Amino acid sequence: MDRFQIHGGRPLQGEISVSGAKNAALPILCASLLSAEPLVLSNVPRLRDVGTMKKLLMQMGTRIETVCQQADGQEQLCLTSDAMTHLQAPYELVKTMRASVLVLGPMLARFGEALVSLPGGCAIGQRPVDQHIKGLTAMGAEIQIEHGYIKAQAKRLRGARIVTDMVTVTGTENLMMAAVLAEGTTVIDNAAREPEVVDLANCLIRMGARIEGAGTDRVVIHGVDRLGGTQHAIMADRIEAGTFLCAVAAAGGDVLVQHAQSDMMGATIEKLREAGVRLQESEQGIRVIAESRPKPINFRTAPFPGLATDMQAQLMTVSSIAQGTSIITETIFENRFMHVQELRRLGAEIEVDGHTAVVKGVADLSGARVMATDLRASAGLVIAALVAKGETEIDRIYHLDRGYDRMEQKLGAIGARVLRLTEKA
Ligand code: EPU
Repeated sequence: MDRFQIHGGRPLQGEISVSGAKNAALPILCASLLSAEPLVLSNVPRLRDVGTMKKLLMQMGTRIETVCQQADGQEQLCLTSDAMTHLQAPYELVKTMRASVLVLGPMLARFGEALVSLPGGCAIGQRPVDQHIKGLTAMGAEIQIEHGYIKAQAKRLRGARIVTDMVTVTGTENLMMAAVLAEGTTVIDNAAREPEVVDLANCLIRMGARIEGAGTDRVVIHGVDRLGGTQHAIMADRIEAGTFLCAVAAAGGDVLVQHAQSDMMGATIEKLREAGVRLQESEQGIRVIAESRPKPINFRTAPFPGLATDMQAQLMTVSSIAQGTSIITETIFENRFMHVQELRRLGAEIEVDGHTAVVKGVADLSGARVMATDLRASAGLVIAALVAKGETEIDRIYHLDRGYDRMEQKLGAIGARVLRLTEKA
């Protein structure tokens, strides 16, 4: 199991580049199931989760070729789903990555059947998929849960009006992909407005889908008989960009985060400004300058354009060294404070009461051994380690590798001392 050894306490300087977005790449890879023609994707980040999704699709019969390695280390892939053999997503893969459930909508829409393992609970919360099932049922699918699997069938899905009980990102994406090949018009109300939903919609539209309103809370999809192939470049990862901005906010320095766009990162940008960080946007990205200890920030996580739950751990680390007390409330997932215990090991003063954390800023953190518990918690710990005096070792870095492309190399290029230690199993 790999771990990071980080020597903190030095400011960051230079330029750092953001890769394609994990949470856009995963649904867009699944969109290849909607057509027999090739889908060519560029800016595909080299992540563990992308590897898992490729494995799942290939196991189902999709052919995936690497067209080229881009100069920035990312891949251009060509996916062709013209001879599917297994319309199934097995438990072994779904249990390692919940986003596997994104094959359900497209499989059902194009082939009229799907067998997808029901994801279990996960480290950050229960995360049920009842809204995906509710929406597909409204579109005429017959769905049974048998032996831990979602067994779905439909001759042809038909358009429906769906109001989701809460804002769900992959739920909106699954239903949108199902609706593009349905008969008639589907309206999804209370839809997720996340930029990744918009990126998926743009790719589907290029494939011939008729979608209106992506990026608003009402998405209208007029079903078509077939989709074709296309080319699409995955959007830049706003959470990776936000993570780098937080790293500089906490460790200090002057860095250009290439490809970062503030309109995709709304509330994160506002919070960093409140923390006293200087941010300058240009065509290249966002330059972040941090010259003093951050000011405290209060926030509640919320669906886009509110403050992303995927930024909560990183911003908590920034507030852990602020000059004052911050109050942070997590509203999306019930168990997303696991980094708190580990941050305390580095000297942070944080009290948790239910879904709210009270973070009393301290002047310094000090290096220690800590353990990563989930993807964004790991990112928060890496930032803390960049600030902490002395050496920090972070175990279980595989969590980080699910969603960050070569993080140690990228941070190394802006002056951080991050070493990956690999132990043979
Ligand atoms: N929910 C239900 N029923 C459903 C669907 C969702 O109760 O059928 C609940 C969830 O339990 C949660 C809330 O609704 O409390 C929102 O969950 P959502 O469905 O939006 O989450 P998701 O689609 O499973 C995506 C991202 C997550 C990100 C969340 C919230 C992908 C592949 N994953 O998950 O990303 O935290 O949206 O923005 O897009 C990450 O990248 O680290 C990550 C966890």
